[in-house]
Amino acid sequence: DKEYEYILTSKPDPNVTLITLNRPKALNALSNGLFHELNHALARAELDNDVGAVVLTGSEKAFAAGADIKEMKDKEFADVYGQNFLSHWTQITEMKKPVIAAVSGYALGGGCELAMMCDIILASPTAKFGQPEINLGIIPGAGGTQRLTRAVGKSKAMEIVLTGRNITAQEAEAWGLVSKVVGEGEGQVVKEALEMAKTIASKGRLSVMAAKEGVNAAYELSLHEGLHFERRLFQSLFATKDQKEGTTGMGAFAEKRKAQFTNQ
Ligand code: CAA
Repeated sequence: DKEYEYILTSKPDPNVTLITLNRPKALNALSNGLFHELNHALARAELDNDVGAVVLTGSEKAFAAGADIKEMKDKEFADVYGQNFLSHWTQITEMKKPVIAAVSGYALGGGCELAMMCDIILASPTAKFGQPEINLGIIPGAGGTQRLTRAVGKSKAMEIVLTGRNITAQEAEAWGLVSKVVGEGEGQVVKEALEMAKTIASKGRLSVMAAKEGVNAAYELSLHEGLHFERRLFQSLFATKDQKEGTTGMGAFAEKRKAQFTNQ
């Protein structure tokens, strides 16, 4: 992939984009350049009509060891505030298509936060999650005090953020941060993430997008408003061909046929 310096992109399946963070010498530290390339690749996957889901991964040793400390260390308040430092990290959260993080090795600081910006996290048994910013005289700056707290609750989030200790893949699974710890073996977590992405990509694109929107709304809305939003989304899908009798979705179920979604 000549186009990018810090990431690799491929389509291991016609309907799935795989993005691999690729700064091995820096354990995939999330530099400015890396993030701009990541944003570019995500935008491309979002626009690719064949693609229904994205997998984001790193190396066996590191998903990402955090924001690039060397790039950050001399910055002043005027720089980071003036340039709204890290604001370009949020694009991944605007994706309509699902993104699965396949995490091996270190997912620390910004690396843990990037994984949490994805929709599903799969971890290999070697994965280590943490928010070590407290050891650098700062605090997490891309969701580590917010998304982590929603994922694991106050006491555990406080422990992770205040002590800076890493948690194991097994702890992360027990605490609900990751959906599954896969079996051992190099590449296993990417393999399973690609399988899951393929499954998701085989569903109707519109209902997948609506489902993702619905789950994400649970983080923003009261239960009453959330249920209202969900019902409206649910009802709106009855305007799609994928749902219609005789075409695919419900029609296929009634006729005991396999659905052929057209994403319309
Ligand atoms: N930024 C820049 N470079 C990094 C880096 C980072 N976050 N993490 C690792 N590297 C570099 C190292 O400097 C080293 O480079 P050199 O060979 O040029 O010295 C290379 O990657 C390999 O790292 P180590 O030699 O340290 O590897 P290790 O196996 O001994 O240790 C580690 C691995 C425990 C992950 C250790 O590298 C480490 O502690 N890294 C920093 C983790 C961290 O503090 N992350 C939070 C960053 S702040 C942040 O992310 C803010 C935010 O909320 C957005």
